[in-house]
Amino acid sequence: MVSMKNVSPDFSKLVASDEWSFSDESRANTSTLTHSYHRYPAKFIPQLVDKLIQQYTVEGDLVVDPFGGCGTTLVESKLNGRRGIGFDINPIAKLITQTKITPVDPEILEKSHQQFLDAYENIDFKETITHNDRLHYWFDDETLGKLDRIYGAISSITSSDAKRFYLCAFSHNLKNSSRWLMKSIKPTIDKNKKISDPFLSINRHLKQMIRKNELFYETLNQAGNINNISKVYQADSTKKWPVEDGTIDLIVTSPPYVTSYEYADLHQLSLLWFGSDSSQFKSWHNKFTKEFIDFRRDFIGTSSKPKKIGDLNSEIAEKIVGDLMQINKSLARDVANYFIDMKKVFNRMYKGLKDGGTAGVIIGNTALKGVNITNAEVAVEQMLKAGFETVDFIKRDISSKVIAPWRDSSTGKFTGLKNPNRHRVYEYEYVIIMRKPI
Ligand SMILES: C[S@@+](CC[C@H](N)C(=O)[O-])C[C@H]1O[C@@H](n2cnc3c(N)ncnc32)[C@H](O)[C@@H]1O
Repeated sequence: MVSMKNVSPDFSKLVASDEWSFSDESRANTSTLTHSYHRYPAKFIPQLVDKLIQQYTVEGDLVVDPFGGCGTTLVESKLNGRRGIGFDINPIAKLITQTKITPVDPEILEKSHQQFLDAYENIDFKETITHNDRLHYWFDDETLGKLDRIYGAISSITSSDAKRFYLCAFSHNLKNSSRWLMKSIKPTIDKNKKISDPFLSINRHLKQMIRKNELFYETLNQAGNINNISKVYQADSTKKWPVEDGTIDLIVTSPPYVTSYEYADLHQLSLLWFGSDSSQFKSWHNKFTKEFIDFRRDFIGTSSKPKKIGDLNSEIAEKIVGDLMQINKSLARDVANYFIDMKKVFNRMYKGLKDGGTAGVIIGNTALKGVNITNAEVAVEQMLKAGFETVDFIKRDISSKVIAPWRDSSTGKFTGLKNPNRHRVYEYEYVIIMRKPI
């Protein structure tokens, strides 16, 4: 733990904190309640968010996550009796989050399940959805037919909260029912995959979700937190925020990394499926049928964006981009774009916070083409320039949690254990805690 006013710490000297690493937490604990509704890359463990909320807020405070992902911050805020606002550029993230923060009356869910099963059995199904061509690459015709039937049965559910609950389960299940290589963090076909019946697998997942909803519902009811305000939006965190300036008590967030996960690609099955259904998902329709490439570019950290112009607000970032420029100009441009975007987000965070409000940014360092991309150091520099003052810097061990810890040393791409040219990434991450001065 380091606490020096307005000075960036020497990150190499920080020692991993047991208290913040949660290395002994079981999978059951990290996927408790609604947290396991839908897989999501690089999601928080809830214990980390809970600790920050308890340490830096009191009941009724407003907690915001501008890279909301699948909604961990909002779920933990609600459980702790705090108001929560989250947003993400990814509409799938919004769908998942809205489902995870909405406890559904178990009786309504039971009725809806019967509606779903009856419709599935009795539906006189004629295909009404014209699928995006790319879906035929991921699914065989028989599976697509079965999925159409399930999707049709979901449409017959009358409660809108329950229908969303089923759509979330459907979205989660798409990968299982497709040719997608499950553990891959890039869209890859699994030639040997044995695809299980989609109706059986969605029902298995639904059973678990229904049980967890009941627990969530009871927990919130008992604590008197069931009606606590929790809102989620689809918004770009580099632009205008759906939160009034000067109102936030705590920001808890974990930004995307540069050229790491391509979130738009990773969620393409759900995006393309829902985007093809103009009757239920009007606002998604064009985006995913016609404008997928443009949509992809709005994600921070993605590659192949047009070059942005702007000061990086960080000498460390300038040096990183300069070093990369010698090796690979296009990669250097991607990294510069990333730092420009992150600078904008830190400035927005500062505006959004109340005087005295706290920001907890969870971020890790990486390396590309042998150049260390010291995101944490850059973040501190950019945050100090935005006006923040330092509170605390914590190093946490995440070695046991990371799914894909290896990158190829020359290409910088994710790789496997068999590659002799691999190096480890994401062994640790940092919790940067800073404050808007009073
Ligand atoms: C590391 S993930 C956050 C995961 C989250 N902490 C959770 O527990 O699910 C980063 C998120 O940033 C989002 N993102 C990328 N570019 C964005 C942008 N311009 N505005 C808002 N969100 C963005 C991605 O869609 C992704 O969900």
